[in-house]
Amino acid sequence: MHPLPMPTCRAGRATTDRPATPPGRDARGAGPHPMKENRVSLPETMRAVEISRPGAPDVLRPCTVPVPVPGHGQILIRIAYAGVNRPDALQRAGAYAPPPGASPLPGLEAAGTVAAVGPGVERWTVGDEVCALLPGGGYAEYAVTPAGHALPIPEGLGLREAACLPETCFTVWSNVVLRGGLLAGERFLVHGGSSGIGTTAIQMATALGARVFATAGSEEKCAACRGLGAERAINYREEDFVAVLKTEGGADLILDMVGGSYLPRNVKALATEGRLVQIAFLEGTRIELNFAEVMMRRLTITGSTLRPQSDLAKDRYARDLETHVWPMVVRGALRPVMDSEFPLEEAAQAHARMEGSSHVGKIVLKV
Ligand SMILES: NC(=O)c1ccc[n+]([C@@H]2O[C@H](COP(=O)([O-])OP(=O)(O)OC[C@H]3O[C@@H](n4cnc5c(N)ncnc54)[C@H](OP(=O)(O)O)[C@@H]3O)[C@@H](O)[C@H]2O)c1
Repeated sequence: MHPLPMPTCRAGRATTDRPATPPGRDARGAGPHPMKENRVSLPETMRAVEISRPGAPDVLRPCTVPVPVPGHGQILIRIAYAGVNRPDALQRAGAYAPPPGASPLPGLEAAGTVAAVGPGVERWTVGDEVCALLPGGGYAEYAVTPAGHALPIPEGLGLREAACLPETCFTVWSNVVLRGGLLAGERFLVHGGSSGIGTTAIQMATALGARVFATAGSEEKCAACRGLGAERAINYREEDFVAVLKTEGGADLILDMVGGSYLPRNVKALATEGRLVQIAFLEGTRIELNFAEVMMRRLTITGSTLRPQSDLAKDRYARDLETHVWPMVVRGALRPVMDSEFPLEEAAQAHARMEGSSHVGKIVLKV
């Protein structure tokens, strides 16, 4: 773990067995970069980290691959920092395939500078600093993404912190506000409160005026949750979150990433007309559940995953974030909680830290 910026990383090795050509670039891999003539000077190849085969963190290997070319409506970002997310680990393990057309390289978010724009892009010009949701390919010096998935860097934030905003903000906004319909004054419970998602959810829900409850696996993590605005943090190793929520009248909305045995317990912890939004199943997807409780107390169980959604849907989330969430960031009500930083080439160590679950907040790669 490197809580402070690290020295320059070692050079990536050239690979001859690259699994696929990055999207947006033809298979030639050689010759002048197609954007070179009318854009900033771009190299032919770049450093990146690839998933050499499905497996443990050490399958993440430094490599050299062609710089991708932005297609219609896309921008090319020269990445300064890339956020690390749990879905990257799922992809690395072979359990979360990239959607069709996405880069096979891991990495769902980044911040940096626009290095080239494809045809039809009006908002961004070369040199703009942006942070963006990526379809993949963030563990690299350059990545392409639809122009509508990029956002300006919120005033007062550096590229390092901004790189950690997109994946969690898109996910929390779309699931807590749009899908879950959280209202001011409601009781909101988020599991995994100290995770990247959890730390964002606590702050966003607090800023929206909800009463926030969070679960976490240690006293240190619970303290972090309280520090972010949770009125009650529940150490699930010592306390039963169902009992705590019931004494409060039940949760109006639960954001859950654990699943498994939490499913029936979440149902019990919900208030009448409560909503459960499922964004992952760290503990498993199959469980026996008495659906009569869902019917009798008029509960809603729903969920979503961000990555397979359409570009249009993600464009809409991005504009929502700019309008409603970026002002929270600017006034300091929502800040990415930074856990640690690793050089790009040490992505394997970053994944090991994340899967060790001792982190609080976000892990970032310095490119
Ligand atoms: N649906 C979507 O679109 C979407 C998008 C992004 C992320 N996600 C999901 O949201 C979750 C959080 O993502 P993240 O990037 O914020 O990850 P993260 O920082 O690694 O957070 C995961 C946290 O879950 C907690 N946890 C609780 N039960 C667990 C269990 N049985 N196994 C492992 N961890 C457990 C851990 O904290 P404790 O020590 O407190 O247990 C851990 O810190 C992940 O499951 C991810 O796949 C979903």
